[in-house]
Amino acid sequence: MSSYAAEIGLFLRRWLANPLRVGAILPSSKALARLVGRNVVRDGNEVVLELGAGTGTITRGLVEAGVPEANLVLVELDPDMVAYLRSRFPKARVIEGDATRPLDLLPGHLVGRVDTVISGIPALQFPLEKQRSYMDQCFAACQPEGYVLQYTYSLKSPLPYQLLEMTGRRLGLALANVPPAHLWGYTREVAMPAAAAE
Ligand SMILES: C[S@@+](CC[C@H](N)C(=O)[O-])C[C@H]1O[C@@H](n2cnc3c(N)ncnc32)[C@H](O)[C@@H]1O
Repeated sequence: MSSYAAEIGLFLRRWLANPLRVGAILPSSKALARLVGRNVVRDGNEVVLELGAGTGTITRGLVEAGVPEANLVLVELDPDMVAYLRSRFPKARVIEGDATRPLDLLPGHLVGRVDTVISGIPALQFPLEKQRSYMDQCFAACQPEGYVLQYTYSLKSPLPYQLLEMTGRRLGLALANVPPAHLWGYTREVAMPAAAAE
């Protein structure tokens, strides 16, 4: 079986086991991974925290866009996906755990040093107070000019950014995704950098 077929097979099995948590029937498309990559890479030495890394499609897009694999911290709750990520990205730090509490998982020396958080966990479904603590922890993980990206299949922002005292901006749409996915960016301290050109 090709590695792509193995990836789809694993994703589908985990979706069947836990559809709400996995949240999508297929891994993200290369189109979404490229959109994310364009909006993450600035100097090619970014430290990136990926929450809900699944089978690593977005991760691969980050590496192809120029993020060094060793600068990636990948968090995933599903043990089978964690094992797959560890074999696929041996230089990355892969953490099995609940990504809604990233500060509990991030190694101490990286707290406050992350350039970008990219998340695919279903934040839209969280109650407001859980969204608040999740975003507080994401921003605490970041360096002062860091920002948080979140992709969503919803037409609206997956996080109520005004209520959460953040700036939010839709950065792009990956139409060739199943289902089509929007990428949002959020900041607290600084103005959001302009969306990367197609
Ligand atoms: C929509 S899928 C995206 C997977 C992958 N990043 C991709 O784009 O193909 C969401 C992923 O988040 C994981 N996930 C959901 N809730 C999580 C949580 N609280 N902590 C860690 N991972 C979680 C799921 O297991 C799933 O792999």
